Amino acid sequence: MSNLSKLNVLMCGTGEYTTGWTGSGASKSDKKIGVVGLTMFDLRRLGKIGKLGMVGVNGDKFPAIRQHLQENIGNVYKDMDTSFKEFPDVGKVDPEAYKEAIDQMFPGDAIIIFTPDSTHYPISLYAIERGIHVLVTKPATQLLSHHSELIAAARKHNVICFVEHHKHFDPVYSDAKARAQTLGEFNFFNAWMSQPKSQLETFRAWAGKDSDISYYLSSHHIDICCWILQDKAIPTRVVASAATGIATGEPYNCDPQTEDTITLLVDWQSINSPTHKGVAVYTASWTAPLKAGIHSAQHWYYMGEKGDINVDQAHRGYDITVDEIGKTWYNPFYMKYSPSESGHFDGQRGYGYISIEKFIDAAREVNAGIAKPSDYDGHGYPTIANTVLTTAILNAGRISLDEKRAVSIRKNGDEWILE
Ligand SMILES: NC(=O)c1ccc[n+]([C@@H]2O[C@H](COP(=O)([O-])OP(=O)(O)OC[C@H]3O[C@@H](n4cnc5c(N)ncnc54)[C@H](O)[C@@H]3O)[C@@H](O)[C@H]2O)c1
Repeated sequence: MSNLSKLNVLMCGTGEYTTGWTGSGASKSDKKIGVVGLTMFDLRRLGKIGKLGMVGVNGDKFPAIRQHLQENIGNVYKDMDTSFKEFPDVGKVDPEAYKEAIDQMFPGDAIIIFTPDSTHYPISLYAIERGIHVLVTKPATQLLSHHSELIAAARKHNVICFVEHHKHFDPVYSDAKARAQTLGEFNFFNAWMSQPKSQLETFRAWAGKDSDISYYLSSHHIDICCWILQDKAIPTRVVASAATGIATGEPYNCDPQTEDTITLLVDWQSINSPTHKGVAVYTASWTAPLKAGIHSAQHWYYMGEKGDINVDQAHRGYDITVDEIGKTWYNPFYMKYSPSESGHFDGQRGYGYISIEKFIDAAREVNAGIAKPSDYDGHGYPTIANTVLTTAILNAGRISLDEKRAVSIRKNGDEWILE
């Protein structure tokens, strides 16, 4: 692999996930120094990455972001260069600066998109149409029709388009997926995922307006359930319900339409047995209690014909108690920030890092001509083609809430549609 060309990468979005820097200063979540930037800087140190760029909307944010990255990454880990080319320049505000940044790239370069949900589709499409490989965060798109368009565009332009569903690379989740295959027909799935109310302050600009908590959090476990059921069952009907009143009240004062907690109830039909039907319940909340000792609560239950699986991702038998803070459950399996013996970054085995590195490796392999983009669909990766039902369920859930009705999911020829 070491003879593959280095990949030039544009990071799109300069917020919590990319840099750990949010509109209100350094993130107070479990991503204080971000994930994408840190991973890119480390992969550049390790020889996989060439040029790095970063594009946001407001160029005036870059001096503070650079200082934050230097203090918390450059000065903490050995041999870590945190430099990158910025778009737009200081003094400019431009929500379409991504176009200028992409126009300066070449086919075979790559973009990693962590921007508000409604921008994923136009930015991904713009990049794909210029021959750029795309890694887009979840939810890939908000509309099923947009997801289908990205599948077609990626095929047409012969680029890889992955959705950054990092839970695929969590050793517990991927082991559970394999074990679920031995449990016969699917019967029941129940997932809960939440974040503390304080995140509403970080995401106030778009929470409830640009996207909802189901798109934001349930996308994770809907995707895992779709992955487990890939060749076993298909979703046929979605009904959604929501709880309200906390996000819209003091002190959060979110948009009047903001839901606190959303549940999607989904019917699944077995592919191999006409008599076997399953039920899934996906619930997500961003009004969970503060000081729970975890950032995201996340657990799920799977029941098959011959057995069941329980996963509690938030509590893994590793907790730390500090006098002033109380008890905290950490998850170094996701991002390990403590340095190695030599003082270098040491988180290369975390699934937050692995998920991005798999994309970088795939893009380099395609550029070298040793793999085709479609090969990764066959490998079961969270490619844009393999994740279409995740978007179908999320989009159906949104329609169900807005129109107060059940929504059907159906295949029309090669294309999935909602009715
Ligand atoms: N933060 C997390 O823990 C996390 C985890 C997984 C996925 N995500 C996903 O990441 C996305 C949001 O990223 P975040 O968490 O860093 O949020 P954030 O609000 O901290 O940052 C969003 C960034 O996108 C930028 N942006 C907005 N419009 C843009 C445009 N037109 N062009 C370029 N940049 C633009 C903003 O300037 C900001 O820097 C969401 O889709 C979310 O689902 C976040």
